Amino acid sequence: MCGIVGYVGSKECTEVLLNSLSKLEYRGYDSAGIAVFENGEIKTRKAKGKIADLVNKMEKEGTLSGHCGIGHTRWATHGEPSDVNSHPHGNANVTIVHNGIIENYKKIKEFLVRKGYTFESETDTETVAKLLDCFYEGNPLQAIQRVIDEVEGSYALGIMFKDYPDRIYAVRKDSPLIVAVGEGESFIASDVPAILKYTKNYYLLDQDEIAILKPDGVEFYDDHGTRIKKQMHIADFDEEAAKKGNFPHYMIKEIHDQPSAVKTTITPRITNGMPDLTECGMTYDRLKSYENIFVVACGTAMHAGLVGKYVIEKTARIKVTVDVASEFRYRDPILSEKDLVILVSQSGETADTLEALRLAKRNGADTLSIVNVKGSSIARESDMVLYTHAGPEISVASTKAYMVQLSVFYLIAFALAYANEKITEDECRRLVAQLQEVPDQIEAIVAKPDDCQYVASKLVNTENLLYIGRGLDYALSMEGSLKLKEISYIHSESYAAGELKHGTISLVTEEMPVIAVATQRELFDKTISNVKEVKARGAYVVLVTHEGKDVDPDAADCVITVPSIDDLLMPMTAVVPLQLIAYYTSVLRGNDVDKPRNLAKSVTVE
Ligand code: F6R
Repeated sequence: MCGIVGYVGSKECTEVLLNSLSKLEYRGYDSAGIAVFENGEIKTRKAKGKIADLVNKMEKEGTLSGHCGIGHTRWATHGEPSDVNSHPHGNANVTIVHNGIIENYKKIKEFLVRKGYTFESETDTETVAKLLDCFYEGNPLQAIQRVIDEVEGSYALGIMFKDYPDRIYAVRKDSPLIVAVGEGESFIASDVPAILKYTKNYYLLDQDEIAILKPDGVEFYDDHGTRIKKQMHIADFDEEAAKKGNFPHYMIKEIHDQPSAVKTTITPRITNGMPDLTECGMTYDRLKSYENIFVVACGTAMHAGLVGKYVIEKTARIKVTVDVASEFRYRDPILSEKDLVILVSQSGETADTLEALRLAKRNGADTLSIVNVKGSSIARESDMVLYTHAGPEISVASTKAYMVQLSVFYLIAFALAYANEKITEDECRRLVAQLQEVPDQIEAIVAKPDDCQYVASKLVNTENLLYIGRGLDYALSMEGSLKLKEISYIHSESYAAGELKHGTISLVTEEMPVIAVATQRELFDKTISNVKEVKARGAYVVLVTHEGKDVDPDAADCVITVPSIDDLLMPMTAVVPLQLIAYYTSVLRGNDVDKPRNLAKSVTVE
């Protein structure tokens, strides 16, 4: 949610800032702006819209030239998307870019107005810029320390002081920020892909640590102003991994990335054919010790948790409760030290999931996170972390992150079931071997998108749609429905197939297509009965099931099959046509597939 960047070095900084911002556009694209030291003055350019709009504006109004600057791409929180609300904010003395939310900005604003400050924008950010100016008495570090004592909320800030035209100052709390170093140059960025064109070496700023970026290096200070040393990290993927390659969109590239992402995620966690989670300290004994399991996450990550619940309960017979993080943190959940709370997050920065983690820790539960972004806040703060190795996921609509989250849930479920003696070693090996077959099956589905393209052509003018399924298929249909609505803007709901008759079937007409998922053998006939009920009421029906199933030719208008595997594992293959249907429908509707309206990838505000 908002991306910030900064650069100090010998390169032309406008070029570096725009390039880096383009890699962060997935974090918000309501407006963009940069500030650059030009002849000792802080000059800004900003524009409502995407980075391309900023570039167009600069072509007309003139670009900026210098070697030290900051930039921002915005997901609007306070104040509508507009030129004036775009970052950077500040005045001739202090200018900042900000990712986060300042909760007590009204109080700060009142204080500053009493001091004679005036405000141009409706943003919370402008109050921080002016507070810095107010507290500044020649020492930037001291001004920043005073400001972080005053402000409440979350922030990652890139700051320029007029008196220091070759420096960028940076500080963060509860919003991500990295500091990267190259040969004679340094950078700040909200995420690693922004710096990969220039360097792979970076530092993770901790809560309220301050960085000073100068042409000859970076200095770090704690919140008391004491100089500290930090450990350097090396990015484990390169610029190519964060590029679209020959694909028209990141989303379809990431759908194609799924087989290798699953292999890279599961292979190091399988030893002699058995699940092995000891890398994070999760031994069989520790697994056996839990009485209850909670899975807490948002959106697609929560949907992965729902599949996890079905699979863990079915195989390991341990109670699993799945919560949306924004509900969990306010519902006063009953937790004890005998419970395991699993937090799932691609970005590792989702504000509600992070707070849910902190709540679980305060209540004494063990915490395990399943996270994709290395060194992210959720990964760093949880007791144990199992990283998913999906590589960078740039498309706002999550696909490969969901897939690898599922794969980790399967390993956890099989390990738990074996540890609790609910399955034999042979059965555990069989399930693990089936999981290892999934990447090839995904590959086969992705290679033949024709049926999904055909279904997309049938759905393109639809305004409403239903997804139905039972059991694991219901959990999966929730993800199918979310994927379609977020990128095609078609209103869709997912329903437990057996629940339709209790009200929702009244919506079914020839104007309401239904996508039914039926991959669970023991529930197949029951779901098909529900399919026939909606078909009889005129719905256009698409059925997703596995190969070799005898489907009554009148049951559905279009049947999409995926290779057959153990029922438990079917979500991993059956989700692929649902992703493809959403993708092609969005393309046919002419939408910006990778940057759907109103959304941002990393939701760092609650
Ligand atoms: C949907 C999507 C979102 C995220 C959710 C959680 O395609 O991507 O629903 O899954 O915002 O984000 P993370 O996983 O970063 O915590």
